[in-house]
Amino acid sequence: MHYLVTGGAGFIGSNLSNKLLKKGHEVTVIDDLSMGKKENLVASANLTFIEGSVTDQSLMKGLISSNKFDYIFHLAAVASVADSVERPVETHEVNYSSALNLLELVRVYQPTINRIVFASSAAVYGDDPVLPKTENSIINPLTPYAVDKYAAERTLLNAEKLFGIKTSATRFFNVYGPNQNPSSPYSGVISILLDRVIKTKNGEKVMFTLFGDGEQTRDFVFVEDVLDALLLVAESEETIGEVYNVGTAINTNLNTVISTLNEILNVKLDVIYQEARKGDIKDSYASIDKLKQLGYEPKFNIKQGLEKLVAHE
Ligand code: NAD
Ligand code: UD1
Repeated sequence: MHYLVTGGAGFIGSNLSNKLLKKGHEVTVIDDLSMGKKENLVASANLTFIEGSVTDQSLMKGLISSNKFDYIFHLAAVASVADSVERPVETHEVNYSSALNLLELVRVYQPTINRIVFASSAAVYGDDPVLPKTENSIINPLTPYAVDKYAAERTLLNAEKLFGIKTSATRFFNVYGPNQNPSSPYSGVISILLDRVIKTKNGEKVMFTLFGDGEQTRDFVFVEDVLDALLLVAESEETIGEVYNVGTAINTNLNTVISTLNEILNVKLDVIYQEARKGDIKDSYASIDKLKQLGYEPKFNIKQGLEKLVAHE
């Protein structure tokens, strides 16, 4: 099979691409390397890497009109919620318009594709206090990022009924694991924490800035579980036109993540506290009952995932 993975040099995309290559598939990655790195991808004769933007319409037309893909995973995005608040116009182009454009190209050139899977987000649920979030929970996107994710998700899922194109979407909760880039202040919190605890372990004087009191909770899901979910969704027929939460159904607060990492590495991270970020969600965790019906079972709790992540470093 031949897979197109947009954003495939990034955190989740590179883990997915490497897994597909290991299974013997052909993989084409398009990534503008704004957050991703080529080195995240294993060298393989079955890998084609294209450095470019999913917002480049002529590049995307060239790619999709070649009509060679069996599956598309559309993961390219500005993944930071806070960044979308700072730069709503630029992030909209990547987080929404690229999905619409991709769909239009598929409609014209590849309408019989096996599946387009879109990476949506738990951010679409917003801050409604009712937990856990099921796929039918109230949708209340509070940031440009969340609005774009919901709009893109609906645009793609509607295509099933409107044009008969096979699409599915996954709402990831907070994913962590190897290849997550800690270099931006907007990077995923566990990637930043890991960077800081390792530096502390090595005797460097570093601090971690905690926005809020550390009691905010997230459903942290290890990337290997996310890959299982993505492949299950892509390969099942009953998932066409459907959206699935991807998490562990357990929420953990940031203070616990910090103390667990301190314990694993036997360090004491220096933490400074600042006001909570605008648009930040207080509590979030997933109901994964719908995904479980496909046979999904998360294999890593937060401690097991963090231990595996630290061992990988
Ligand atoms: P990431 O930043 O590591 O990956 C995104 C990739 O897209 C990066 O490699 C980046 O360079 C690339 N990219 C950005 N703009 C691009 C453009 N214009 N053209 C081509 N490539 C571009 O983030 P990730 O955590 O791997 O996220 C993957 C997807 O999953 C994103 O759509 C994100 O919104 C979604 N998601 C992630 C999480 C999470 O916790 N990590 C949770 C929910 C949803
Ligand atoms: C994350 C994802 C987003 C996804 C969402 C789904 C990233 C960068 N963001 O957003 O793509 O859609 O989950 O639930 O992968 N924090 C600190 N200090 C820091 C960084 C973060 O205290 O240096 C705090 C934040 O204020 C927040 C929490 O940690 O309260 C989690 O932040 P972050 O990792 O950015 O995740 P989300 O905003 O939940």
